[in-house]
Amino acid sequence: MTSGVDSGGQTDSLRILRGQKALVTGANSGIGKATAIRLGQAGADVVVNYVFGREDAEAVVKEIEGFGVRAYAHEADVSQEDQVVGMFAHMVEQFGTIDILVANAGLQRDAASVEMTLDQWRKVLDVNLTGQFLCAREAAKEFLRRGVVPEVSRAAGKIVCMSSVHQIIPWAGHVNYAASKGGVLMMMQTLAQELGPQGIRVNAVAPGAIRTPINRSAWETAEAEAELLKLIPYRRVGDPKDIADAVTVLASDLMDYVVGTTLYVDGGMTLFPGFATGG
Ligand code: BGC
Repeated sequence: MTSGVDSGGQTDSLRILRGQKALVTGANSGIGKATAIRLGQAGADVVVNYVFGREDAEAVVKEIEGFGVRAYAHEADVSQEDQVVGMFAHMVEQFGTIDILVANAGLQRDAASVEMTLDQWRKVLDVNLTGQFLCAREAAKEFLRRGVVPEVSRAAGKIVCMSSVHQIIPWAGHVNYAASKGGVLMMMQTLAQELGPQGIRVNAVAPGAIRTPINRSAWETAEAEAELLKLIPYRRVGDPKDIADAVTVLASDLMDYVVGTTLYVDGGMTLFPGFATGG
């Protein structure tokens, strides 16, 4: 079928990840959830990682299965090495291999710098940066073991790191988070440089303000949303689907020559919007 709409509600030709195996961390809510579902819609089998919220993860699995692909939920804390190693080993047992890692799991523990505890600092660095590193390392090992399978993808594997506009925009009151995302930028670029020769593509997506639980206070009242919109030239708060679509295309062979890049999906938040009227 090339032009008809199938029972999943999308044209068959849009199954740009057909036959690929993907793992999305933090896939029980927000951006991770939308991304896991979108990858399934694009034809991938998907592992739905979560650390809390088993029921939500199972609901994501059901939705993905509705597209006629395989999915299962896997509980693991990405900051714990043994749990990450176990999660990838299990995926190889279940699905045979991995083609796409979306290193998405992340959190905020906000505080003024002088009040920030070491625990708050460490928690954010452990999950947002070390967690992405551990998952990328395990995915890359399997990509290298298996190599390129041309019928599946031109690349030996794809890693999409979920970053943030705060990989380049300093953010008062969030020094742990901004430092973690700045770290993600350099980690992503270094991995891309190191693993490119073996056919592995590493890139990042950097969302701006997306309507998810992590930033509810920034958009849940009309006043807060009006303030937020001043920071967004395109004048709308993003939806998780905006990010999910970007990740899906970036992970596909449509973007096979894109290596070590950050795709900002931010409605223009990184364009120094204050300078539209000042400077
Ligand atoms: C943060 C959100 C914030 C957005 C834009 C994201 O990375 O997690 O809380 O709204 O950046 O500032």
